[in-house]
Parts: sequence; structure tokens; C-alpha cells
Amino acid sequence: MTPTPAEIIRTKRDGGVHSEAELRSLVQGISDQSWADSQVAAWAMAVLLRGLNPQERHGLTRAMAHSGRVLDWSAVRGLHGPILDKHSTGGVGDKVSLIVAPLVAACGGVVPMISGRGLGHTGGTLDKLESLPGFQVHLSDAALHETLREAGCAIIGAGPDLAPADRRLYAIRDVTATVESLDLITASILSKKLAAGLQALVMDVKVGSGAVMPELPRALALARSLVEVATAEGLPIRALITDMGQVLGRTAGHALEVREAMQLLNDPPLVSELAYSPHGGDALQGGARLLWLSVLQAAHLLVMGGLQPDLPTAWEAALKALNSGAAAERFARMVALQGGPADVWRDAGLASAPCMVAVWPANTKSGRVIAIDSRALGMAVLRLGGGRARPGDVIDPRVGLSDVLGVGEAFSPERPLAVLHAADEAQATSVAREVAEAFEWVEETQTVPPRALVVQEVTPPAAA
Ligand code: URA
Repeated sequence: MTPTPAEIIRTKRDGGVHSEAELRSLVQGISDQSWADSQVAAWAMAVLLRGLNPQERHGLTRAMAHSGRVLDWSAVRGLHGPILDKHSTGGVGDKVSLIVAPLVAACGGVVPMISGRGLGHTGGTLDKLESLPGFQVHLSDAALHETLREAGCAIIGAGPDLAPADRRLYAIRDVTATVESLDLITASILSKKLAAGLQALVMDVKVGSGAVMPELPRALALARSLVEVATAEGLPIRALITDMGQVLGRTAGHALEVREAMQLLNDPPLVSELAYSPHGGDALQGGARLLWLSVLQAAHLLVMGGLQPDLPTAWEAALKALNSGAAAERFARMVALQGGPADVWRDAGLASAPCMVAVWPANTKSGRVIAIDSRALGMAVLRLGGGRARPGDVIDPRVGLSDVLGVGEAFSPERPLAVLHAADEAQATSVAREVAEAFEWVEETQTVPPRALVVQEVTPPAAA
């Protein structure tokens, strides 16, 4: 007999183990609304406190992946490459997706990238792209297939029929302090990725002050959990644990980030001359650091998708696609096919904020940055109107930060910590102080070692 919701909740509350049938029943109850919000919330809290064992985590992920449509690309005409994607656990100024999708497409992959919206201090790829006038993140099947055929990549939101159990469960977790459960994060991310019918996935698990899991042990546990469950479900995966202890690139804020990603695609800095090495990105700052991480993720996908034999060769192929303008061309095609500007390189139509204010510490105009509270910078963007405190809040795409320094960089009267972009002066003044206070600094004469960019890689045992 199927157990009742109360029996399933009681099992986990008391530290018991769910059977496969119980997990299927609860996922069904979440999807068809036969479980009340209060019951879903109680179960989520029991999971947060008691945890799931590996079998339960697999069972939950699988059931959630099959709670809606599972995409099958084999029936779609004209897609000639492996179906690849990357996913980040979220951060501040993380615009890697905007670069990786066209880059992989230019190298022969097909990238139906299902992205999310920002919440709290983290930004969302869909919100960023919507700062391009007309850009549509919800496409019909026909339009999605056309975009993938013509551009090789599309960046879209999960439709209502893709892992619908996750949609409801996530909304309930968000308001019941149960987002932080490693088990539930694993099931949430991978259910959508499994339903998307991918052939390979690179996970970018962020660590540091701006990450959802700031401490390395938790980030590592999440990376291992993602790799373990994806591997068990037959999805090739690699997880990179990467630095979010500083803004990635120089900008945070929607239109500013799109502009930065476009600049890097169009005119890549000297990173394009670097050969691959495991810690080659550590000493880089700003756009070069962002680009290095983007090329690395693209290279991993090309190897996993069977398009390149090894990482150094894949790295070269990705750089070539970048330097030749092929990736930039894919980006422009994707934008036009998704309803954005017809020629994004001629006129992207990105709005600018009317008020710009340079920010220094209160009592000095020279020094060297030793640490950054990236979360505080993300919250500052949110307070400028460039983020969401609650789902559904309206975003001002113009506001945010540019010219943001990284750890180890010096500020001076000519070079501030960051430049704030605000809707008006009052707003700029109210946020400038919290931006300045997010930076810890020392005398300029002191040396500060750079932060490692790729902290650790987690691969399935067979591929290690
Ligand atoms: N991203 C998701 O999709 N789900 C989570 O639970 C956390 C991050």
C-alpha cells in the first residue's frame, strides 16, 4: 500500500531510509499537488536535518527528472554534434555561460543551455540576457530547434514541463530555509540536467565569499555528490570547484555583464596566447581571469563530448574559435534567433545607468586589496535595484558595478575599488559605503598572493 505523506515525513523525521516507492510517491505528490505545501516543507526540513543516503539521493533525483518531459534530441533533425551543457552553482559577476555556450557551439557542440534567474546576492543568466531588448528566454520547441540548428546554442529557461517537481519543491525550499540541503541541491540541479537529455555536463561549483557554499569542505561535498549521482545515472560529468572570493571579471549587474562578455568574445585579451596549464588562471585578473575559466570549461566539454582528444588540444581549439571570431558570430546568431537585436555587434541596445560614482575606502585612496566580501557586493547590486529579494521582483538591468578590483590589485587616486552604476545619486550614495566596506585592504607596498582560480577538480572514479 502507498504510504501517506505523514508516514513518509515521519520516516525521515525519525532518521529512517526512504524506499524507492516512497520517493516516487512523494515526487508524484509534489508534482500533482496532492501533497500540501506544509507537507512538502516538513519533509524538506526533515531531509535538511537528517540527510539522504546515496541510494535515496539517486532515487529522488531520478524520480524528479522523470516528473515531466525528458528531452530526446535524437529525433530532432539537423543537430550534428554532442549535446553539452555547463552549470554553475551561482555567484557574483559569473557570466561564464554567455561565453561558453557560443564557444562550444563554434567548436562543434550543441548547447541547449537551461539557465536560471538570480535570487538574493547571485545573478541569473536569463535576467542578464533579458537586458538585450527583445531577447526571449522561453522558446517553442520549433524555435529552440531552429536556434540550435542555426547557432549551435540557445540559452533558455526550464519550461513548465521540465522536472516540474523541482519547480514546486524549489519554491517551497526558498521560503522555508531548506535551500542549503546538499541532498536537495543535488537532486534539484541534476533532475533538470537529466531531463534535458545531455550527453555531458561540466559543473562549476563555486567556493568563497560569494558562493552559495562559501566553505571548501561543503563545496567539495556538493561537487562529489553531483559527480556521484550524475555518474550513477549515466550522465558524464566533471565538476570544477572555482573561486568566488572575488567578482568574476570586472562587472556585476545585468547589462554591464552582457557588455563585458560581449567585449571578451569580440576582442579577447592576452589569455588567448596562454597554453593550458592546471593553475594558469590563478595569477590572472579581470577579463583575462573570466576568459580563462570560460575556455577551460569549454575545453572540458569538447573532450567529454568526444570532439577533442585531450584538454590541451581542446584548449587550443577553443582559443582558435575565440580568436577567429567564430564564437562571437555564434553569439550574435543566438541573440538574433532568440528575438534580440538583429545585429548585436552593431547595436546591442543595452541600457546604461545615468549615475556613475567611483568608490574608494573612506579614509584613503591608495592600498592593495587583500580580501573581498563578494556576497556583500552582490547584495549591493541587489539594493541598487539590480537583483531580486523575492521571486517576481522587477530588476533594473542598468545598475551594478564595473571596474571591480580583484584580490592582490592596488587602488590609487586614478584607480578606484569599483565604479558604481545607479539610477540616481541618492541611490548611489546609499550603497557606495557598503561597496567600499566589502573590500579589505593593506598598504600598497605589501604583496598579496592571488587566489587560486580552479581550486579542485572532481571527476568520476574511472576518469580520474
Ligand atoms: N540551483 C538549483 O537549480 N537548485 C538548487 O537547489 C540550488 C541551485
